Amino acid sequence: MGLDEAFRMNPALEKVNLVVGVYQTDEGTSPVLQVVKEAEQRLLKHEASKVYVPMAGEAQFLTCVESLLFGEKSSLLAAHRIGSVHSPGGTGGLRLAGEFIAETCAGKTVWIGDPAYPNHRGIFGSLGISCKGFRYFDLATGSILEREMFADLEQAKPGDIIVLHGCCHNPSGADPGRETWRALAEFLRERDLLPLIDLAYLGYANGLEEDAGSLRTVFEHCDEGLVVTSFSKNFSLYNERTGVLSFVCTDSASAERCVARTRTTIRRLYSSPPAHGARIVATVLSDPTLRKRWSEEVEAMRQRMISTRQLLHEALSSRQVDMGIFPGLTTLRGMFALTCLTEAQVNRLREQHHIYMLPNGRISITGLTSTTIDRVADAIARVLRH
Ligand SMILES: Cc1ncc(COP(=O)(O)O)c(C=O)c1O
Repeated sequence: MGLDEAFRMNPALEKVNLVVGVYQTDEGTSPVLQVVKEAEQRLLKHEASKVYVPMAGEAQFLTCVESLLFGEKSSLLAAHRIGSVHSPGGTGGLRLAGEFIAETCAGKTVWIGDPAYPNHRGIFGSLGISCKGFRYFDLATGSILEREMFADLEQAKPGDIIVLHGCCHNPSGADPGRETWRALAEFLRERDLLPLIDLAYLGYANGLEEDAGSLRTVFEHCDEGLVVTSFSKNFSLYNERTGVLSFVCTDSASAERCVARTRTTIRRLYSSPPAHGARIVATVLSDPTLRKRWSEEVEAMRQRMISTRQLLHEALSSRQVDMGIFPGLTTLRGMFALTCLTEAQVNRLREQHHIYMLPNGRISITGLTSTTIDRVADAIARVLRH
């Protein structure tokens, strides 16, 4: 946030912002999706009241989201083993999950992969929950540290919570393959560990259905767990605070109890969720034409991320930059990529070339456009030669 502010204050015309976690087009904008505009027009036409929505959210929204995540033919849904509440964005969902863990899993540890999305530790830690790290990603090779991950998770005790990113791991962009997901799921089940899947980028890695496959695999094996979904990115609904916390339970009575308990938490924290974003998502997901158009817009975003990664790779390679600096740039997925740039090099990029990125070298891929990519590649090449 501080870097973003510093970027805004910088008068240089050639400045480039690779910090923000917001999808941008090749024109450098973050427009409202067309399908969202269409849904909003429908909603405006029929809106008759602004009364509170139910504490746990509106049923149509929650039903649509559950079938998006678990699949229309999900046996878990048929058995009513899933209970969900609308949360104010993914962050709100993580907070609600944290409250639930603090209340019902006393003494348990939350395990967070390294490198981490910092807010996981921020949210769970602030609730007094003990957090531990497990090795996840090797920056030098651009790949997941499978052996080390399983070795570290061997230390977890039954009932501990393991945080996994549903897809497009933030910040690395490295996701387990299908076989690793299965192995992880079996591992969690055998050791009685509880998965908490944070799904902030559904559709950005390999497509909507493919990406949902990971959490479906986990819950083929694990009887219980939590899923936090955000629609900030794939619906571009950042400021509408639209997310869902879902509980997967062993039976329908447990699912109802989890929702009831969380309803009490919601009452204490913010009483009832915002309506607009959830109604947009429900309108789009429940109308086959709008839903198809949404999946096409998500696919266009995904393709832009893939092609930008490729273009950056080509721009750097043509300047003889050793691509070891950017492990997995073209094979990893999602909005973010980690570079091996040192903090000093990151500072030099900012101070001398007005290119902003996080101190850990993370860049936001869609902060690059076809007009800035060569300039960024030039600057990186120069800083590396320095
Ligand atoms: C892994 C992860 N979880 C949760 C969130 C929060 O999502 P939201 O903006 O909907 O609160 C983000 C956003 O960047 C994220 O990257």
